[in-house]
Amino acid sequence: MNLAKRIPHYGKVLTTSMSHFWQQPSQFLRYSTKPKTGILMLNMGGPETLDGVHDFLRRLFLDKDLMTLPVQNQLGQLIAKRRTPRIQEQYAKIGGGSPIKQWTAIQGERMVEILDRISPETAPHKYYIGFRYAPPLTENSIEEMENDGIERAIAFTQYPQYTCSTTGSSLNGIYKYYSQRGAPSDMIWSVIDRWPTHPGLVNAIADRVKEGLMKFSEDVRNDVVILFSAHSLPLKVVERGDTYPGEVAMTVGRVMETLNHSNAYRIVWQSKVGPLQWLAPQTDAAIRGFVTRGKKNLLLVPVAFTSDHIETLYEMDLEYIEELGAEVGGNLHRAASLNDSPIFVEALADIVYNHLRMDRCVSSQLTLQCPGCINIHCQKMREFFSNQQPLLDSFKDEPEQEQQLDQRTN
Ligand code: FES
Repeated sequence: MNLAKRIPHYGKVLTTSMSHFWQQPSQFLRYSTKPKTGILMLNMGGPETLDGVHDFLRRLFLDKDLMTLPVQNQLGQLIAKRRTPRIQEQYAKIGGGSPIKQWTAIQGERMVEILDRISPETAPHKYYIGFRYAPPLTENSIEEMENDGIERAIAFTQYPQYTCSTTGSSLNGIYKYYSQRGAPSDMIWSVIDRWPTHPGLVNAIADRVKEGLMKFSEDVRNDVVILFSAHSLPLKVVERGDTYPGEVAMTVGRVMETLNHSNAYRIVWQSKVGPLQWLAPQTDAAIRGFVTRGKKNLLLVPVAFTSDHIETLYEMDLEYIEELGAEVGGNLHRAASLNDSPIFVEALADIVYNHLRMDRCVSSQLTLQCPGCINIHCQKMREFFSNQQPLLDSFKDEPEQEQQLDQRTN
């Protein structure tokens, strides 16, 4: 029996652990009963194979919530086509594709196991993966959730820090799906839009930093500079009021507090593309600058993505540590990504657990648009999720109604 076919999104993870699956009756029970709460784990995703790179880039460059280009439909296609061979080469060097779906599946699987245990009243929980630019695409996963008969749907961004370019784009995608469908959702939606200071996230990153520091010999360990590296953003996005840089700083601040400020640190920004001005200093420029100033021991820490992906495996490990490190004579290491960190997976479950007990569908931060926003979808998306509130209230009344019914029938 092909479980990967029977259970969408579980691909390589469950195929390789089939015996484990069948040895766990609780898991079988979970998938043999109708799930009640669906958790849609939102991310940009990544191509699983080299053949998937072009489609991934095409979707990315056509996403007007992420970027606006002149004659975008034509230019976006052209840029995607031009960049495909170079990006394919990069993916070829990290094993032929992005591992992000596999990591998300592992995180989701363990998260719902915990939730079923600690929150039986909202169980069974089922996770779904909603990628913006690679399968499983968000719109297909929403259809699957509707077909599964999910009652409570949670759009759960997998980016701890909010930016309109990533989480905002994914949420706009959910709004657009329903607006194009023309029929309302059968599910009650709510949103987990950011969690930059969740203690579990902070502890999980701090743990990875401690492990990373152990890669340096004891005599230099105190001298190591910690470089928290996050994906950069064009300054024009920041200038319109995006909260991302501030939220990255919040995460870093909490992590360093947890580490008792054991080392000097900086926030640096990676993955700039194109001619526009982006957040700086760029990670590679910072590495060069520190090493030439005698600070040769540097620990890179991914702080804005929670799984390995091309920016960690290719950009950090190969471009920065192997190539640039050798060129400038630095002693560079990287803290591991969170991936299957048990502390992190518990944090994911805790975030959902607390969210399910909140009285609102959206956070107060999400209700506020960027002061410089000119994207109509951002407003419509907020209306879509805020309009779920009366449904959520009636959902919360259910146990009371059931209790009254019980009293009447007893
Ligand atoms: Fe931030 Fe629209 S760009 S709310």
